[in-house]
Amino acid sequence: MADTMEKIVSLCKRRGFIFQSSDIYGGLANTWDYGPFGVELKNNVKRAWWKANVYERDDIFGMDAAILMHPKVWEASGHVENFFDLKSDCKSCKKRFKSEDLKTAKVCPECGGELTEARPFNLMFKTHRGVIEDASSVVYLRPETAQGMFVNFANILDSRHPKLPFGIAQIGKAFRNEITPGNFTFRTCEFEQMEIEYFVRPEEADKKLEEWIEAHFNWYIDLGINKDNLRKRPHEKEELAHYARACVDIEYRFPFTTRGAQADGTWSELEGIANRTDFDLAQHSKISGKELQYFDDAAKQKFYPYIIEPSGGVDRTVLAFLVDAFCEEKVKDDIRVVLKLHKDLAPTKVAVLPLLRNRPEIVELARKISRDLKKSMVAVYDDTGAIGKLYRRQDEVGTLYCVTVDVQSLEDNQVTVRDRDTMQQERIGIDRIKEYLLNKLS
Ligand code: GAP
Repeated sequence: MADTMEKIVSLCKRRGFIFQSSDIYGGLANTWDYGPFGVELKNNVKRAWWKANVYERDDIFGMDAAILMHPKVWEASGHVENFFDLKSDCKSCKKRFKSEDLKTAKVCPECGGELTEARPFNLMFKTHRGVIEDASSVVYLRPETAQGMFVNFANILDSRHPKLPFGIAQIGKAFRNEITPGNFTFRTCEFEQMEIEYFVRPEEADKKLEEWIEAHFNWYIDLGINKDNLRKRPHEKEELAHYARACVDIEYRFPFTTRGAQADGTWSELEGIANRTDFDLAQHSKISGKELQYFDDAAKQKFYPYIIEPSGGVDRTVLAFLVDAFCEEKVKDDIRVVLKLHKDLAPTKVAVLPLLRNRPEIVELARKISRDLKKSMVAVYDDTGAIGKLYRRQDEVGTLYCVTVDVQSLEDNQVTVRDRDTMQQERIGIDRIKEYLLNKLS
């Protein structure tokens, strides 16, 4: 288990998926930068989510709100008052612990030192806007994207005139001053969320909650996650957020070995799907003084809709897809490392490789094919090694197909196409190659 996580972290650095942030300065702990393949994978995850939740539906409107919001937003939302974790510090080694992680421990689990009393710690990053640093200039980095959608509820109603049920979707950065970040990109202070606020009639809330849980559970499976590694976990009453009446987490079995690990991995939250009731709209209406009720034309009635909120983390989802796709296969006397990412998620769809890099006609033809394919899909040209090595490198980053140009290609105008998962090879005419690949990718 420990091994798997180490191998994935190492592959991410070696092949350009995820780097330690500010590495040349010794790194900023638990902060990560996405490299060339990482940013493609992340964008593909976000694109797949947006497609399933916005483009393929008639009842969801996309938006992109500012990260900085009026400070009263966070008073109304309850984050100033309630968004706390309890923490204790070790008086000897100075390590900081979340009280819930300490469970019944009375001394520091690291060094046995004395612990301070548990103290509340607000997770919001606070800063000041403008030149004067006083109470009137306080702003927060948003700890969830959700509030940007609640405060735009009336704007969406007025500009798009939707009928219930309908939703707003957003993908964007969120920030939390986590006490115990860790497990690679799983828990960080800066991360991205993919959230939907779905407005429903109160009497429909339970049914819609179930529908969203099913739809989102299946989304991960449709994109290749092994369903044995995915489960639904309803929240206990005590763990519900201050705004939620019910919540079900979709959890993935990560190969983490730190606190709380079981022998077969650690079930950890990818996404929470909550019934937030009318808490947010009623609060914002009360604090802002603006009308945020929905007017039902037929019944001539005003009311606050309830909100069903599927809220997932982009970084955790990317990590789950990486872990699930990571395979080591024995091929003859060798081990082949391959990322079997779903075709929609693979960072590169095709690599064009010249079999002989010292033959200018082969190189020129391979470059031409690559230039042409780039107009229709993410394609790369690579001639930095022998063919065996190039195949292995492309397998490690999950490239779906390798197109090889050889001496025979110059005569018969055909190339070899190799499939990442089966390693089967096929000869295809150069004039058909684009159509052939687009067919496979569609
Ligand atoms: N609007 C509801 C909300 O923010 P949450 O359960 O606190 O709910 C939703 O967060 C999702 O955001 C989580 O399921 C997780 O995927 C992601 N997330 C939360 N905190 C995170 C962190 N510190 N690092 C990475 N992802 C995080």
